[in-house]
Amino acid sequence: MNIRFFALFFAMCSLCATANEYKAEQWNIDARKKFAEQRFGIFIHWGLYANYAQGEWYQQVTGLDTETYGRMMYGFYPSRFDAKEWVRVFKDAGAKYVTITSRHHDGFSLWPTKVDDGYNIANTPFKRDILGELSKACDEAGMQLNFYYSLMDWHRKDYPAGTVAVSCLGKQKGDYASYKKFMLGQIAELIDNYHPGNIWFDGEWEHAKCNNGVWERTLDWEMDSIYDFIHSKKTLTANNNHQPIRAKEDIQIFERDLPGENADGGYSKDQPVSLDRPVEQCDVIQKNVWGYRITERSFRTPEEVVAMVTRAAAKNCNLLMNIGPDGSGQLPSRAVEVMAKVGKWFRKNGESIYGTTSAGIGDGKNVYSTRKGDELYLHFVTPGKNTFTFKSSGAFKSANGLWDGEKAKLTVDGDMVTVAIRRPKGYRFNYVVKLIAE
Ligand code: GLC
Repeated sequence: MNIRFFALFFAMCSLCATANEYKAEQWNIDARKKFAEQRFGIFIHWGLYANYAQGEWYQQVTGLDTETYGRMMYGFYPSRFDAKEWVRVFKDAGAKYVTITSRHHDGFSLWPTKVDDGYNIANTPFKRDILGELSKACDEAGMQLNFYYSLMDWHRKDYPAGTVAVSCLGKQKGDYASYKKFMLGQIAELIDNYHPGNIWFDGEWEHAKCNNGVWERTLDWEMDSIYDFIHSKKTLTANNNHQPIRAKEDIQIFERDLPGENADGGYSKDQPVSLDRPVEQCDVIQKNVWGYRITERSFRTPEEVVAMVTRAAAKNCNLLMNIGPDGSGQLPSRAVEVMAKVGKWFRKNGESIYGTTSAGIGDGKNVYSTRKGDELYLHFVTPGKNTFTFKSSGAFKSANGLWDGEKAKLTVDGDMVTVAIRRPKGYRFNYVVKLIAE
């Protein structure tokens, strides 16, 4: 390598450093930490699509234009919507925060926004400010509220339609400057009126794809300036873009996958895990869909949800579990039942999840671990798997089951520790043992 090449290389590196430089301020560092400590949140996908009861992609899948699909705005009257009752269910489930679709891909807004063309809740017969009511109920219950916000849009004339939106908008060139101005106007309203913890973007992937590790982007969303705007209002940014994390993103999202596992062969394949920012896995309770789908009967079991929370926590990751309320405003009853049982588990075992970090012990299949200070929690996830041996540099004086207080048996052989548990009869959840250091 000659000296000219070196000089050019370093000049390029320093250019990249300037472009990416973002020094998180103290409020930001504190808010990220608070977010990570919460570990478990509820995701809500709700909008006009709940009335069609075919999932949140109904408009796109059927190729409906917004005039046809959007007529449902005049029939949207979720008479059973009760924000307090929703929040009671979430809190009772052990969740610490809620993230709701303020505006999904169909472009319909769940609050009476002043900066759109009228495609929002104020123009439904229901009229009530859904986000306002939810925000009040969350405040009263001490829960954090966050907003999902779609970058992709299937409604507006100024949105530059990509490969997905084309099915609803046709080949529309749009006007990104105008669309961005609209988004910033909405984001300002969301933050100023309802004080969310984070703005959670989705849909950027419509204009990006990765070929053998090289990203190709067909639209410059100018995300940096959008993030600056959000940060200026002391709010966190998150982006479900399936891409490597960028400097101004505060939370990294993994869609239906644990960070780094690429389990579904799907969205996180080109997404290296960030080591210095909180990570969140979003997933679905009605297994195959986010918005309400009346024919979807495969719900996750409470044991599955608890195991998912555990696997996530053991990877320093939050779990955001989605529920799609129906068009009447009710949460599907099966989801409510599942969440009540999850909450029962959390009431005994919460300390092994909230505010913990990964302890790096486990077999990645049956046994996982978390820690808080000197305390180590071993999670026996699989029924029937009742002993586990691991290497430890320190000694433990006791091991107690969090569910029933039953003492687990500790056997020490050199630096190898074996923990043997006895599960209560019929208990099929994670059995958690707390090991106290000597
Ligand atoms: C996907 C889907 C969307 C859903 C989101 C949640 O990106 O497009 O419908 O909102 O995942 O993570």
